[in-house]
Amino acid sequence: MSDTAEKLRRALADTVRSTDWRKALEEVPRELFVGDAVLLRTDRGDLWAAARRTGMSEDDWLALVYTDETWVTQVDGVLAEDAADTVTGSPSSSSTTPSLVVRMLEAAGISEGDRVLEIGTGTGYSTALMCHRLGEGAVTSVEYDPAVAERARKAITAAGYAPALVVGDGLHGYPGNAPYDRLIGTCSVRTIPPAWMDQVRAGGTITTPMWGWMGGVAFAHLTVTGDGTASGRFLEDDLYFMRARSHLPPPRPPVKTGIGDARESRINPATLDNEAALWVAQLAAPAAQRASAGDAAILLDVATGSRADTRPNAGGGWTVHQHGPVRLWDAVEDAILLWLDAGSPHQSAFGLTATRDRQYVWLGEPGGPSWDLPA
Ligand SMILES: C[S@@+](CC[C@H](N)C(=O)[O-])C[C@H]1O[C@@H](n2cnc3c(N)ncnc32)[C@H](O)[C@@H]1O
Repeated sequence: MSDTAEKLRRALADTVRSTDWRKALEEVPRELFVGDAVLLRTDRGDLWAAARRTGMSEDDWLALVYTDETWVTQVDGVLAEDAADTVTGSPSSSSTTPSLVVRMLEAAGISEGDRVLEIGTGTGYSTALMCHRLGEGAVTSVEYDPAVAERARKAITAAGYAPALVVGDGLHGYPGNAPYDRLIGTCSVRTIPPAWMDQVRAGGTITTPMWGWMGGVAFAHLTVTGDGTASGRFLEDDLYFMRARSHLPPPRPPVKTGIGDARESRINPATLDNEAALWVAQLAAPAAQRASAGDAAILLDVATGSRADTRPNAGGGWTVHQHGPVRLWDAVEDAILLWLDAGSPHQSAFGLTATRDRQYVWLGEPGGPSWDLPA
């Protein structure tokens, strides 16, 4: 192993500043996981340019690898190593910013003796950090994409670890090694998969970012009670990973605006630019996706064809048009007004209770105002 890499690992550990994970950061070679190429975002947001190890000096490549950044390793199913010079699409796998990975591991309270199920192996770097600290026998990781999983398996093996690596939909967990003490989602979910609650022991925890179809995010940390139920408050840390592939929204067709009945909006649509407000709006209309066209802010529920759009009007307010069976804006307004009334709190003022029959997010306490998550 090169001296440069060793120095850079120490520098990365200095940046991350975690007592518990320091040794793992100093000793797990991230270059094995980042591989031979990454995809860099260009000025045109959906266009990615390949940066290859062979295209720069070894020192420059290692400097890139050990920057505390997310390196995208796959865009829309094309691995960076197999990509042409440019590729179009959205990231579908990455080596997440190491400090963010460590924040996740710390938020989950993972420590020696824990058996962990990780959802979203990705490059395998976070899997290897856990193998370093907990021992490979304590770690199971599930990856949806077979090519990503194979790439991770090679990197983890090269690093000298042999955890249980599973290829499949992590929303089913992996019953083979259950029960787990800790489950972490390194991809974001829309609801808590019931299998997770069955596979974590009573008193164990599920820590996962949630990311719904409107774009609202919150970081869940739930304690499992053992009867298929889990409950807990959202964390203060604003942390999220890319969305779980099986929880992605359906494709959104182009939307015509100004259709349906019209009235004055009771809220400023720009309120939804606030992350906590967007989370609340999404609770009220979980099947809706958000879009814009010119000065129109649009909500669209693809399944029912319900839509709402708002536009500034001559009176200095906003006119909302609504169409379809679900009154999307009515629901969003009610929730936002309640949230404003409560003092516009962060997502950490909310909590989630998930049972076999129902998952609901509450404000304040479990008996407070609540919204059901989609089944
Ligand atoms: C942000 S990356 C993982 C980060 C990784 N743990 C690391 O070391 O930085 C998210 C990964 O989740 C995977 N993924 C998405 N949906 C999934 C699902 N339903 N089950 C398992 N893995 C999934 C993606 O293919 C991607 O590789």
